[in-house]
Amino acid sequence: KNIKLIEVPSEIGAGTRGASLGIDAIKIAALDFMSNFFVHFPSEKIEVENNLLFEPIKSPYAKRIQGVLTMYERISKAVSESIKGNFFPVILSGDHSNAGGTIAGIKIAKPKSKLGVIWIDAHADLHTPYTTPSGNMHGMPLSTAIAEDNEESKVHEVDEKTAAMWNQLKGLGKIAQKVDPEDIVFISLRDFEKEEKHLIEKYGMKVITTAEVRRNGAESVSRKVLRYLSDCTDIYVSFDVDSLDSAISRGTGTPVGNGLREREAEDLISKFMQNRKICCFEITEVNPTLDKENLMAEIAFNILQRSVNVLMMN
Ligand code: ARG
Ligand code: MN
Ligand code: MN
Ligand code: MN
Repeated sequence: KNIKLIEVPSEIGAGTRGASLGIDAIKIAALDFMSNFFVHFPSEKIEVENNLLFEPIKSPYAKRIQGVLTMYERISKAVSESIKGNFFPVILSGDHSNAGGTIAGIKIAKPKSKLGVIWIDAHADLHTPYTTPSGNMHGMPLSTAIAEDNEESKVHEVDEKTAAMWNQLKGLGKIAQKVDPEDIVFISLRDFEKEEKHLIEKYGMKVITTAEVRRNGAESVSRKVLRYLSDCTDIYVSFDVDSLDSAISRGTGTPVGNGLREREAEDLISKFMQNRKICCFEITEVNPTLDKENLMAEIAFNILQRSVNVLMMN
């Protein structure tokens, strides 16, 4: 595969500052390992809207949604163009809201695809402005991908302007539902709210626990996941580093216990990368300002490097 790196140092969707520095921290990790990984691949850096962090919040239940919409537009354009140009996009992004733009980009390039999503994350990121406990948009990208409001679980009223921008996020690329909810697989999901649980149960989304990965191993879990997604034509893998256990993921905004070990995540992701349906891979939420000795970025770099090696052999 022809790899293209797409760098998206945007952190406006996170609740804690610093994830925009994650990509540079991964590059520093590469240098510390004396790796010349980053000279081998074409890369494109997406312009960001992080200046919005200095402005007052207008939409408390969808913070900086205007900027997130701008990011979705830019990211989806870069991703769709790289896929159309026969590249395999590897996205390095700040916070996970960016993944909504990535998914839109894949669908714009492949409108006829039945797109499966493997979401490796402690969180479900299935909130909407109507249900969010924080207003942080990195908790919402999957709802934009399945075009969900979750009205049934509504906790707050949302002003008209915010609602209109939310509709634009969901409708990006003029394709409403980009992913069929049953074609989403969560791996190591362990921190979610009842409004998200409602959607997972209602649509029968697949959940694979940390315990299952540990018990059955990468080979068996990857086979099971790919079998589950067998009617999909294309698959996107989104790796939020907080899927890793909080003992090693201090360098992320929302660490959670009971997560994956480095080796478990690495083996599993490498297995996925061997599959011919995999069309895009994203690593997100590295926040070096919260870390000690750049550990999170080093782990992310190891996983990036091994994944890309596997992709190039396939
Ligand atoms: N569910 C919580 C929220 O909406 C946490 C989301 C964390 N998401 C992430 N991509 N780290 O605020
Ligand atoms: Mn996430
Ligand atoms: Mn997460
Ligand atoms: Mn299916």
